[in-house]
Amino acid sequence: MILTERQLVRWGERIGGEVHPPFFLALRGPLGAGKSVLARAVARGAGVEGPLPSPTFNLVFRYQGATADVIHVDLYRIHDPRELKELGWEELCAGEDLLLVEWPERAGGQLPADRWEVELCAPEGASELREVMVLKVGSPPSLPSFPMALSPDLG
Ligand SMILES: Nc1ncnc2c1ncn2[C@@H]1O[C@H](COP(=O)(O)OP(=O)(O)O)[C@@H](O)[C@H]1O
Ligand SMILES: [Mg+2]
Repeated sequence: MILTERQLVRWGERIGGEVHPPFFLALRGPLGAGKSVLARAVARGAGVEGPLPSPTFNLVFRYQGATADVIHVDLYRIHDPRELKELGWEELCAGEDLLLVEWPERAGGQLPADRWEVELCAPEGASELREVMVLKVGSPPSLPSFPMALSPDLG
């Protein structure tokens, strides 16, 4: 599925509003793919208010949503399993929260058995569009499917 940023954000907001934590969403794709855009949209949809920085210096941001905490993690700068431990990774994964994790590949094999994965990438020559692929691993709670009216992106 190919989505504009607006469509991706709308989908993310629906995810945030509809999923039932504990919920783990792995966000894959290269730098600039839109992982943080999607994560922030999910947080908004879950009722998080106020500014939503990108976790660049802090690797973990925890927000209070309407019905659960939303935890946005960026593992980009993790290169060693020991750093993962310092981050409290196991506890995060065992929690009751809505977890949004960029660069999940940095966690080695340490990902929850039940999760959703979204992979984003920019199609050649289309800087404002992203190809979005969704993968279900194990038996996670259901994930809203793509926005209904995908055709005209009117707003
Ligand atoms: N269809 C799209 N979906 C998501 N982001 C898009 C899209 N088109 C353009 N962009 C831009 O791409 C950038 C994605 O940045 P970001 O979410 O920080 O990437 P990442 O976290 O994957 O490194 C943003 O500047 C955003 O405005
Ligand atoms: Mg990011």
